[in-house]
Amino acid sequence: MKILLLNGPNLNLLGQREPEIYGHETLADIEQAACKRAEAAGARLEAFQTNYEGALIDHVHAARSAMDAIIINPGAWSHTSIAILDALNSFGGSVVEVHLSNIHKREPFRHHSYVSARADGVICGLGSFGYLAAVDWLTRQP
Ligand code: DQA
Repeated sequence: MKILLLNGPNLNLLGQREPEIYGHETLADIEQAACKRAEAAGARLEAFQTNYEGALIDHVHAARSAMDAIIINPGAWSHTSIAILDALNSFGGSVVEVHLSNIHKREPFRHHSYVSARADGVICGLGSFGYLAAVDWLTRQP
């Protein structure tokens, strides 16, 4: 199984940005832990972060023929981007949406995610463990 881990805008600043909300771990820490978790389950995980919406969409398109699953934290694009929803709708594999914070406990503008209309599962509020839970679900044995 090949998993693509996508992180959207501002998530490159994890560890420095609002640590009381997003924690002290860096994105590199999270990506490495997710990679190890996938490898332990016999899967391969590739990670990509971008602050450019079109670059994220290009990666979803490339994943259509190359990847079995996508784990995505779309950051603020969750709440704004029909274009990312449309791109994910073109992808045939499993999609898990992850948010570090519990978006439902925060400002009302964070309560709705366009991406959730496509996601097979949504994990929020579990901090960085949410990414590992997503890997575990994707690599679970029947
Ligand atoms: C986030 C929640 C979003 O509302 C926010 O814009 C982010 C991070 C999260 O992981 O909790 O950038 O997706």
